Order: sequence, then structure tokens, then C-alpha cells
Amino acid sequence: MNKPFSMWNLVGRNLSFTLDAETAHGLAIKALKLGAVRTRSVHSDPRLHRKVAGLDFANPIGVAAGFDKNAEVPDELLATGFGFTEVGTITPLAQTGNPKPRIFRLPADEAVINRLGFNNAGHAAAIERLKARRRKNGIIGSIGINIGANKDSADRADDYVRGIKAFYPFADYFTVNISSPNTPGLRDLQARDQLSNLMQLIVDARGAMTTQKQPSIPIFLKIAPDLTDTELDDIIAVVLDKKIDGMIVSNTTIDRSMLSRPSQEAGGLSGKPLFERSTIMLAKTRQRAGKDLALIGVGGVDSAETALTKIQAGADLVQVYTGMIYRGPTIANDINRGLSKLLDSQGASHIGDLRDNAVDEWANKGR
Ligand code: FNR
Repeated sequence: MNKPFSMWNLVGRNLSFTLDAETAHGLAIKALKLGAVRTRSVHSDPRLHRKVAGLDFANPIGVAAGFDKNAEVPDELLATGFGFTEVGTITPLAQTGNPKPRIFRLPADEAVINRLGFNNAGHAAAIERLKARRRKNGIIGSIGINIGANKDSADRADDYVRGIKAFYPFADYFTVNISSPNTPGLRDLQARDQLSNLMQLIVDARGAMTTQKQPSIPIFLKIAPDLTDTELDDIIAVVLDKKIDGMIVSNTTIDRSMLSRPSQEAGGLSGKPLFERSTIMLAKTRQRAGKDLALIGVGGVDSAETALTKIQAGADLVQVYTGMIYRGPTIANDINRGLSKLLDSQGASHIGDLRDNAVDEWANKGR
């Protein structure tokens, strides 16, 4: 695939790559805050509009969780052309995460390994920022709140319930993240009985918060790409049983077999090498869950073509993280422009019409 020619590829990426990955990320957040990252004109095309889980999206491309962990720059990210952004993962109490260094770029594979371990400033700090945001006007774009559990929590399920309650006035949707590989034991919550209990508590918490003035807020469950078919079957059974609104497929992988150069770093692998595995998992999820469940595809998206492939493999919406590191801050606009061109060339009248075109093909690659 051709790399787009841009100032980012010429200058920005080289500059940013001279810094340690976490320092570069901190600078990117600062630059966004200062308004130094602007998009001259945000691409707008009604054919890219999506209505998913009752929410309106100007386009299907969103920021994946982990980039804006503390709700510092949601509006600035939306202003660069994203249709939505997901804040978090946020845990009830602030925590420092694992020792540094803990983010590693693998440029030969356009990948990243991270073992951050839910470093974040906690519920209260994010709520203060989101309160301030509510006073701003004229910003279009949904904000998801991705909730998690503290590493040392005595009751992890209760941490999620607290997340739903704390952020209810500020979230357009919630993501329940039980799939990070960097909090020991967290992914055990994906097992059927544990998951069923957790999702019941979460649905009950939502029910208690829903009033006439406060509508029912959609809940997405974010899963790992390393599940067996049986584990996936179990998760989808719980999602359908508890009437969860959607799923996000997928988080980072602990597998390293797809790397061109071996890496001994522990943590979750993201970016290009995750694309195939996460797209297969997405297609399998669509096959099993049926047409009505909302699905967000994430993992290795860095172009209009890879975004469209996610949609064809079953995604309603698509998220990007590592692609931003390698393609730069105009990625949302670049992908959306490219999607419009792909619609022209395919003679399609709406992006939603292309969803599921290649579900069986992708699901079968995983056999
Ligand atoms: C992540 N990701 C992530 N996911 C999540 O649910 N909560 C989090 O806090 C984080 N943190 C995080 C930090 C870093 C540095 C990276 C690279 C990733 C996972 C992310 O949202 C996404 O699921 C994967 O990275 C796959 O998408 P990409 O990066 O291949 O587009």
C-alpha cells in the first residue's frame, strides 16, 4: 500500500520518532491542547453519516481508547475530523501504571507494544474536565467513556459500576474494557459466568441512572483478539442475553507471531500486524451476533482501504490509534476523503450499504 505524501511523513514523524514514545505522546496531547494541530477543512460527506446504537455519527472514524486517557483533548480530536472519540480507560482511583519505558514503537512493522497498565488520573479528574466541556457549544461528535478497574481493587466489578454512575451525565456511550493484557487477571472477566455477573451489574446500574431526562446510554463491550471460538461464543451469548448494545473488536494482542522481527517486550501489540487477526475476530463476531448488534472494528486501520475492509467484515464504525502514530494527525480526514472516493469508484450511495460484504470471507480466514 502506498504511503501518502505529507508534511507528517516528511518532517513530523521523523521529529516525533526521535523522542521516546511516551514523551512523543505527551507532546501530541499538548500540541492538540494548544490548537497547534488543525485541519484546514474537515471533510464532510452525507454518505459517510452513520446512525449506530441510536447515536448519530458524521463519519464512521473514531479515536480508539488509550490516546486521550484523561479526557484532555476530546473536542480537539473531533475538530481534526474524527466522528467520535473514546476517552479512557479510566479507573475509579488515579494510578501510575507500570514502570517506564512501557510504550515501544516497532517501525519495521508499523506496530506498537504497550504495557502502560491503566495509568490514568482517575474518575474525579476526568469528570472535572468533562463538566467544563459541557459548557462549550457547537461541537459535533460523540464521546465514549471507556471504564476499567483499578489494579488493586478489592471488587473489580464494583469499579465498573462506579464508572457507569460517575460518568452517566457525560457519556454518549460506555465501553466496558475487560480486555487489556496489562492488568493481571483482568481478561478473566471475559469468562462466561464472571462476564454474565458483571454485565448484569452494569445493566442494573444503567437502569438505575436512566430517567425521563436522562436516556438509556448504549454500552459496548471491548474484547481481546486472542479468544478461542468457544470463548467468543460464550461472550456473544452473554452480550445478547443481557441486551448489551454493541461490541468493540478488538484490543491489543499478546501474540507476537506476526512480527517480521521478534520482540521480547511484554504487553499488547497494536498496529499493522494486528489488522488481520482483529478483522477475523470482527467477522466471526458479526457472523455469530447477527445483523442488529452494533460493532466497532479496531486494529491496524491506517487508510481508507483498511477502514473499508473493517466495514465489509462487519463494522458499523471503525477506530484508530497506532495508525495516528505512523500516519499523523490528519489521519481521520485522510481516511474519510478516501472513503468518499472509494464510494465514488464503487458506485455505492452510502457507506452503510457496504457493511458485511466480506463477513464470510474474513471469518473463514480464521479456520
Ligand atoms: C491502547 N489501547 C487501549 N484500549 C483500551 O480499551 N484502553 C486503554 O487504556 C488503551 N490504552 C492503549 C494505549 C496504547 C499506547 C495503545 C497503542 C493502545 C488499545 C487501543 O484502543 C486499540 O484497541 C488497539 O491499539 C488496536 O488498535 P490500533 O492501535 O491498531 O489502531
